[in-house]
Amino acid sequence: MTTDEALAKLPELLKRDLTQPLCVCNQVLKLTVIEAIAQGADTLQKVQQQTFASDGTGCCKRQVQALIDAIGGVHDDTAIPQATPLAQAH
Ligand code: FES
Repeated sequence: MTTDEALAKLPELLKRDLTQPLCVCNQVLKLTVIEAIAQGADTLQKVQQQTFASDGTGCCKRQVQALIDAIGGVHDDTAIPQATPLAQAH
């Protein structure tokens, strides 16, 4: 799909700051990530390989996955560690 078609699938919230780095660690623009997804990078791993987004400390993985989910890629639950519940205090 084209980048415009991918952008059309995103909710308004995710269309903000397209020309700002989504991945601050590697200075990868949000638009670069969206272009990669539009061109077929449908998993977090593929986006990582093609753009280097989330290849730093991994702190932007959730944002990258949110874009993949919104555009219609594959959701890989194993790629993002789940938060462990806090012990319940009594
Ligand atoms: S902001 Fe992308 S890996 Fe840290």
